[in-house]
Amino acid sequence: MSDPVTFSAAVPENSNSRPLVQLCAIEKSYGGVPVLKRADVMVRAAEIHGLVGENGAGKSTLVKILAGEVTRDGGDVFWLGKACPLRSRQEAEALGITMIHQELSLATHLTVAENIFLGHEPTRHGCIDRQREVAAARVHLDRLGFGLDPTRPVHRLRPAERQLVEIARAVARTARLVIMDEPTSSLSAKEVDDLFGVIRRLKSDGTAVIFVTHRLEELAEVADRVTVLRDGVTVHESAMPRRNFSELIRAMVGRELKDFYPPRRAQRGNVLLRVEGLSRASDFQDVSFEVAAGEVVGLAGLVGAGRTEVLEAIFGAAPIDRGRILIEGREVLVRCPQDAIQHGMALLGEDRKRTGLALLLPLAPNITLANLQRVLRRGRIDLRKEEMVARGFVERLQIRASSVRQRVGALSGGNQQKVVLGKWLFTNARIFLVDEPTRGVDVGAKIEIYRQLNQLAEAGAAILMVSSELPEILGITDRVLVMRGGRIVGELITSQTTQEEIMWYAALGT
Ligand SMILES: Nc1ncnc2c1ncn2[C@@H]1O[C@H](COP(=O)(O)OP(=O)(O)OP(=O)(O)O)[C@@H](O)[C@H]1O
Ligand SMILES: [Mg+2]
Repeated sequence: MSDPVTFSAAVPENSNSRPLVQLCAIEKSYGGVPVLKRADVMVRAAEIHGLVGENGAGKSTLVKILAGEVTRDGGDVFWLGKACPLRSRQEAEALGITMIHQELSLATHLTVAENIFLGHEPTRHGCIDRQREVAAARVHLDRLGFGLDPTRPVHRLRPAERQLVEIARAVARTARLVIMDEPTSSLSAKEVDDLFGVIRRLKSDGTAVIFVTHRLEELAEVADRVTVLRDGVTVHESAMPRRNFSELIRAMVGRELKDFYPPRRAQRGNVLLRVEGLSRASDFQDVSFEVAAGEVVGLAGLVGAGRTEVLEAIFGAAPIDRGRILIEGREVLVRCPQDAIQHGMALLGEDRKRTGLALLLPLAPNITLANLQRVLRRGRIDLRKEEMVARGFVERLQIRASSVRQRVGALSGGNQQKVVLGKWLFTNARIFLVDEPTRGVDVGAKIEIYRQLNQLAEAGAAILMVSSELPEILGITDRVLVMRGGRIVGELITSQTTQEEIMWYAALGT
């Protein structure tokens, strides 16, 4: 189904299905480039509504318009049937609209409790009552089932924990509509379950939820209805299917998708990376394994099992207490990421804002950043060459940007992830440490990233991949190491294992 549909007319009117909000023919351009052309969404009261589409389709832009953070160029918004301008965040808040952002927006120097109540602090005799704030935050967090200490500063939290704070903050106020822009991308299965509990409670309290995600299986668990955006146009609206997503996917990408996990043809060569007895305090202990040329090894486990920490330690981004790193059989000293890059390693990090990108710089220099030598001419950066390289990657990875001079910070989340990948593909690395490489990436781009990893392996690279998506681990790796509590508790041959077996090791394995 590819015909655009509009919902501005003929909405069934009974008390249960009364539209809470209708966005009709919304338009928005940035610098003359249209991002939303004719976007329609209708959400009913107490409805959980999925919003899906490829990277750069305009999902975040559309929900930001609804939250009053971005002003639209055209189109109408109706709240309970009445036209409303929706020109500011205050206006949206007054209607009862709150939003959880895709790129987190917490004040990292403040505590969990301070963030939850920011701008709405409990007061006593006209002063902020911090004690009551902490107590209220504790009750709130407990009710949500999030085991977070309200007095901890947010900068000490991991991405998944920060996500929980965002969620707690958004639902702390009584809301009519909560918008969640990819809230699960950094959460573990248990935390996703908790979040779904929160969502169901919101629904039973009469609150509507707009849920933006690339994970259709998750959406199928909670969503009542779904809207698909493609290139800024609404192309599909229906009840959320529970199992078969082919129609949705076709609407999203405009074609059939085949070969989700490309066939693996790489030959196993010499061992490129070997680690022995890697340990650091309570983070990870006695981690030993090897990865050969042509191999893709998965690192599975629950969030907090120590996977990211191990990757960062191998890359020299964090210290180790004990252990050895050998590259092609020779022990090497990796004290900092520069050392690692010199030894042919690349780290595709978990948190692209912190480790992967210079958000204020354009796309092109971000791609060449880790290998400037290749674009130098007489000691200076050759801008033409830089652009040519960047254009090559934009095409190869199907990065959606208005030009290679666009600021990376203005790209959609999934497209930023592709830029990080492009940057490392442009280096001479042979050992790739990749952490959740397809987080926040749409289905079409996922396949492309799998193809790229495959090609790297076929060209003789060694790939170590952390992923929380078990189908992805089973789909593209040769072997799986499972971590739990900082230790490797299982090593499995991918072709002979199952999701259940991996989960068993991750949760209980000894
Ligand atoms: N502030 C901005 N300035 C310029 N272009 C922008 C800005 N914000 C968004 N865009 C562009 O608008 C398009 C849509 O972006 P948006 O973030 O809405 O996509 P999305 O559907 O949320 O994608 P993703 O799934 O990757 O999060 C992208 O091409 C992006 O580059
Ligand atoms: Mg987005």
